[in-house]
Amino acid sequence: MTRRRNQWGSGFAEPASARLSRLNDSLSFDRALFAEDVEGSIAWTEALREARVLTVSEARRLTAALREVAKREAPRSGHEDVHSWVEAELARRLGPLAGKLHSGRSRNDQVAVDLRLWLKRALAEARRGLLDVAHALAARARVEAATPMPGYTHARRAEPVTFGHWCLAYVEMLFRDVSRCDDALARADECPLGSAALSGTPLPIDRALLARRLGFARPTANSLDAVSDRDAAADYLYAGAMALSHLSRLAEDVIAFSSDEHRFLELPDRLATGSSRMPQKKNPDLLELVRGHAARAAGDLAGFLALLKGLPLAYDKDLQLDKEPVFRLRDTLAAVLPAVAELVAAVRLDRARMAEAAADERLLAADLADALTGRGVPFREAHARVGRRLARARTARRTLADLPPSDGIESRDLAALDLGRALGRRRALGGTAPLRVAEAARSASRRIAAARGRS
Ligand code: ARG
Repeated sequence: MTRRRNQWGSGFAEPASARLSRLNDSLSFDRALFAEDVEGSIAWTEALREARVLTVSEARRLTAALREVAKREAPRSGHEDVHSWVEAELARRLGPLAGKLHSGRSRNDQVAVDLRLWLKRALAEARRGLLDVAHALAARARVEAATPMPGYTHARRAEPVTFGHWCLAYVEMLFRDVSRCDDALARADECPLGSAALSGTPLPIDRALLARRLGFARPTANSLDAVSDRDAAADYLYAGAMALSHLSRLAEDVIAFSSDEHRFLELPDRLATGSSRMPQKKNPDLLELVRGHAARAAGDLAGFLALLKGLPLAYDKDLQLDKEPVFRLRDTLAAVLPAVAELVAAVRLDRARMAEAAADERLLAADLADALTGRGVPFREAHARVGRRLARARTARRTLADLPPSDGIESRDLAALDLGRALGRRRALGGTAPLRVAEAARSASRRIAAARGRS
């Protein structure tokens, strides 16, 4: 490793140690901010021209050179960070004029604005990907609004639901994830450029105009806060970790439903994996990786919050480590969301097996108790009578339905042991009655279309 003199090193007695550079340099990863860095610098050039720090012709030459640099591919090493590299490239093209760009600016407000611009794009992209998954689920829900399957609590069969209802449960989670992205976007919509190192730029910059030019709603209000605030990154990590946690639960369900034990669902071959040893295997690696990525995203969020806590105002170099987790999350979401959307749309249902499992009459024990309460029996008493009947049926190896009426349970009550009737009864808002589910699926599709239109 060669020893390099950094742009700030003129007063230093010796160039930086290679060991310092190895730790200190961020170009290998912050090159991902290249496009945003150039964009921020072009807007700053404009602002400097308006403040009469640059002449019209200087500003024109700087902007043209920045556009030229933008066409290059950022290297992975050889400079401290992406900001230093862009400036070095400008210097190669323009000589001393390049040095005027950094007037009244610091890498502290520069990196802050780069990251905000990047996060706004990442959040908008996450939101689109989440809506695509929601769309795939809502489309399935429309078709499967009346497809019965067992619903589970504690991973045990509990009461019947429809597959459409299951799909829409995840749609609700995804709507909340989208709204987290929207909230984060609204909060991130402030431009920190013009805060300089920490105390605010001394140049007469119209920060409101600069903010608008970069597509922000307004400038940040406090320079000390602006150069050290990474809330937008934390919001993104939280929104992403939460969304992945939801998709991890979906993955867990689909792994179970497609297992040899359930066989409710079958993964299409193109989305399944095999074993190098066992020719019969068809594995759900895609879903297991969603589960794994959810774990890693949760860890990144926890690490990030630990990084922020206790930092003295204003900028501290710890903040350089804000980048890799957010870059990783964007890559993760870009891989996970389309894969899950495709899988949701393509998974094959074995409706007969699902219906057979849902027809297990024990799932209707509560409905039988409800039938007694309909005749005025207090629910606790009804629950006890059905409990005793279940026990008798078990010992007699009979079903609830064909055991003769007894213990105050009459044959008219036994009509409650009907799957279609049980599903249809759950028609209160938010319930699994097929008509409700069909209606909820239509409303979900409308909400998705509206949300897509807002982006
Ligand atoms: N690479 C740095 C970062 O990502 C840029 C800001 C450097 N500022 C400083 N005062 N050293 O945080």
